[in-house]
Amino acid sequence: MLFQGKSLSAELLADGIVEFKFDAEGSVNKFDQATFEEYRAVIAAIKDCSDAKGVLVTSGKSAFIVGADITEFLSTFKQPEETLVEWVKSASDVFDAFEDLELPTIAAVNGFALGGGCEMALACDYRIGDTTAQIGLPEVKLGLMPGFGGTVRLPRIVGADNAVEWMSTGKQYKAPQAMAVGVLDAVVAPELLRESALKMLNDAIAGKLDWKAKRQPKLEALKLSPVEAVMTFNTCKGMIAAKAGKHYPAPMVMVNTIEAAAGQDRAGAMALENQGFAKLAKTDAATAQIGLFMADQVIKGKAKKAGKMATKAVNKAAVLGAGIMGGGIAYQSAYKGTPIVMKDIADSALDLGLTTAAGILTKQVERGRMNAKKMAGVLNNITPSLSYDSMKDADVVVEAVVENPKVKGIVLAEVEGVVAEDAIVTSNTSTISIDLLAQSVKRKDKFCGMHFFNPVHKMPLVEVIRGKETSDETVAAVVAYAAKMGKSPIVVNDCPGFYVNRVLFPYFAGFSHLVKEGADFTAVDKVMEKQFGWPMGPAYLLDVVGIDTADHCTGVMSAGFPTRMTKIENDPVSKLYAEERYGQKNGKGFYDYGKDKRGRPTKVPAQTAYELIGNAESKDFAADEIIARLMIPMVNEVVRCLEEGIVDTAAEADMGLIYGLGFPPFRGGPIRYLETVGIENFIAMADKYAHLGEIYQVTDGMREMAKSGKSYFFTDVKTA
Ligand SMILES: NC(=O)c1ccc[n+]([C@@H]2O[C@H](COP(=O)([O-])OP(=O)(O)OC[C@H]3O[C@@H](n4cnc5c(N)ncnc54)[C@H](O)[C@@H]3O)[C@@H](O)[C@H]2O)c1
Repeated sequence: MLFQGKSLSAELLADGIVEFKFDAEGSVNKFDQATFEEYRAVIAAIKDCSDAKGVLVTSGKSAFIVGADITEFLSTFKQPEETLVEWVKSASDVFDAFEDLELPTIAAVNGFALGGGCEMALACDYRIGDTTAQIGLPEVKLGLMPGFGGTVRLPRIVGADNAVEWMSTGKQYKAPQAMAVGVLDAVVAPELLRESALKMLNDAIAGKLDWKAKRQPKLEALKLSPVEAVMTFNTCKGMIAAKAGKHYPAPMVMVNTIEAAAGQDRAGAMALENQGFAKLAKTDAATAQIGLFMADQVIKGKAKKAGKMATKAVNKAAVLGAGIMGGGIAYQSAYKGTPIVMKDIADSALDLGLTTAAGILTKQVERGRMNAKKMAGVLNNITPSLSYDSMKDADVVVEAVVENPKVKGIVLAEVEGVVAEDAIVTSNTSTISIDLLAQSVKRKDKFCGMHFFNPVHKMPLVEVIRGKETSDETVAAVVAYAAKMGKSPIVVNDCPGFYVNRVLFPYFAGFSHLVKEGADFTAVDKVMEKQFGWPMGPAYLLDVVGIDTADHCTGVMSAGFPTRMTKIENDPVSKLYAEERYGQKNGKGFYDYGKDKRGRPTKVPAQTAYELIGNAESKDFAADEIIARLMIPMVNEVVRCLEEGIVDTAAEADMGLIYGLGFPPFRGGPIRYLETVGIENFIAMADKYAHLGEIYQVTDGMREMAKSGKSYFFTDVKTA
C-alpha cells in the first residue's frame, strides 16, 4: 500500500499500475477538507514510487464521487473574497498537481461523477464509464460555478459550446451522452469497467495510446479562432441572459470567465476560475441556493426516517371526492405506484376526475416521457367508485370533499366505519382545524391532515398536519406515503391556515391595505414578480387561488387570529367576491381572462376591478415600499410559526414556502430572506410600519434573536 487514509488509498498493483481508490467511510465519496489532505498525500506517494507507470482512479462505492462536501460551504464562504480565492486555489492546485503526474492516468467512472467528481475525472488523461455512469457539473444549481478546474478543462476537452451547455444547465448526462461529446472516451458494461480501464491504461503505458498528446490541450489556450470565439460566446451569453435572468448571476459569471480564460494557458485560466468561483460564493443567490439544498436534505432525511419508523405500510389508498384535488391526488398516487380508490357522490365527478388524470398522462405520452402501456397501468391503478365498498382494505384514506366542516364530519365518520381498525384517515382540508375534524372520528390517534397543493401533480409540498391526538406512527406513515407519492412532506402542528396559508394571508392583507391606499394592483404585481421574483404577483395569485376561496380563508384566519388578522373593511378581495368575480375559474377577478384570436390565453387588468376597488386617485409606491409592505407581514408570521412550534425548523419553514408557494429560490425562503436583509435591518424596516397593525409588529423573540446575533438556522426558537 502506498497510502491508506480514511477516504483514499493508493496501491501498487502488478505492471506498475497504481490504483488510486476513493472509498470514504460514509455512504458516498465526496471532497471535504480531510479528503483534500489525503489527496495531496496520495499524489506525493505516487511521485515517490519509482515503480509507478500509470494511475487507475476507481471508486469502492456504487457511485464514483458525488462532488464537494456542500455542508462545509456556507461557513467557509463567510470568509472574505480574497481568502476564498486562496482557499479554492489550494484545492484546484491539487487537481493540477494530479494532472501533472508524469505518467498516464485514467478514471474508471461508475454511477454519479458530479461536480468535483466530474472534475476529478476531467483531470485524468482518459475517462472510461460504465453504463451506470451519470456525469455533470451541477454547481450553477447552487449559484456557483465549478471550482476544481471544470471551467478550464471541460471546454478544452469538449469545446466551449458543449462545455457552456453542460455547466450552465447543470444537467447530469448518462454515459452515452457523455461519450458523444467526448467527456468519456469509452463506455462499457459494469462488469467490464475495471478490465477495460486497465487495458486502456496499459496501452498508454506501452505507448500505443499517446497520453501526452491527449493531455496537452488541457494545458494550453482554447483552440478557437477570434471569430469563432466571438460567435460562440455571444450565442451562449444571449441564451443565458434569456434563461437565467438577473437574479441568477452564476451562469453569466461562468461564461464570462471561460471567455476571458480562452486565450490563457492552464495557470492563467485557473486563476480566473478561482476568482470567478470566489465572487459567486459571496453572492446572496449562492447562499440562498446552498441553503435550499441543505434544507431539502433535512426534509428528505426526515421523510426517510419516517419511512423506517412507520409501522403501517401503505399499499392501497382511497380518496373521497373526485374534484380538482381528489382527482389530482388519485392521479399522483396511481402514477407513483400506490393503487387508489376514488370515491365521489356524483358519476359526472368521477368521469371528470378520470378525464383529468388521463389528460395529464396523455401530455406525458405526447412529450415522450411515458409510453401508452405505462399510461394504461396508471389509469388501471385508479378505481372509481360511488360506494365505500371498494375501499374496505385501504391503508390510508384522504378526504377531499367540499370545504364544509359538517359535510367533512359526516364523511369522515362514515369512512372510519368502513375501513380496517388500523387504517389511517386524513383530510385535505385547507382551512378547517384538524382537531375540530378529529371530533368526528373515534380513532383520533389515526387521524391527521394531509394538505396537498393545487395542481397536485406539479406542487411538491404536502403539509402533514398533526392534531393534538395524532400518534407518531400515524404521522410517520403519512409522511412516508407522501414521500412515496414523490412529494416533499413537512410536518406541522394544527392551527388556522396550518403553516403555508397562515403566512400567505398576512401577505395578502398587506396587499389589500396597499391597494386600498391607492396602489395599482398591476404595479404591485409587477414589482413582486420582476423585482422580488415571485412567479405571480399577489393580485394574479389571488385570481388563481380563487377570489371566493381567498375570501372564505380570510374569514377563517380572522376568526383564528382576531387581533392580528382582523377582517379588512372594504377589502378589495371581498368587493370582487361580492360581484362574483371569482378569479381565473370564472374568467374574471383582478384581471379578465380570455383567449386571443389564436386561442392563446390572455390576461388583462379588469376595468371593473378598478371600479369596484373604487379609489378616487391612484398613488405611486416605490418598489421598496411595496416589497416591505407585503413581505414584512409574511416573514413576521413565519417567525411566529417557528416560535409557536407550528413548523419545526427554519429549513422546513423555508422549504414549505419554496415548495408550496413558489417563493423565489434565489432568495432561499422567508427565513433566508430575513437573514440576508439582516435581522436588525428587518426590524428597523418593520418598526417603520408598526403603526399599520399587528401584522407589521415583530415578535420579542425576533428582537432577542437580533440582539444575540444568532441565526434561525442554528437555533431552536420554539417558545410555546
Ligand atoms: N382547490 C384547491 O386549490 C385546494 C387546495 C388545497 C386543498 N383544497 C381542499 O380540498 C378539498 C376539495 O377541494 P376541491 O377544490 O377539490 O373541491 P371540488 O369542489 O373540486 O371537489 C369536491 C368533490 O367532492 C365531492 N363530494 C362532495 N360530497 C361528497 C361526499 N359526501 N362523498 C364523496 N364526494 C363528495 C364533489 O362531488 C366534488 O367532486 C377541500 O377541502 C379544499 O379546501 C383545495
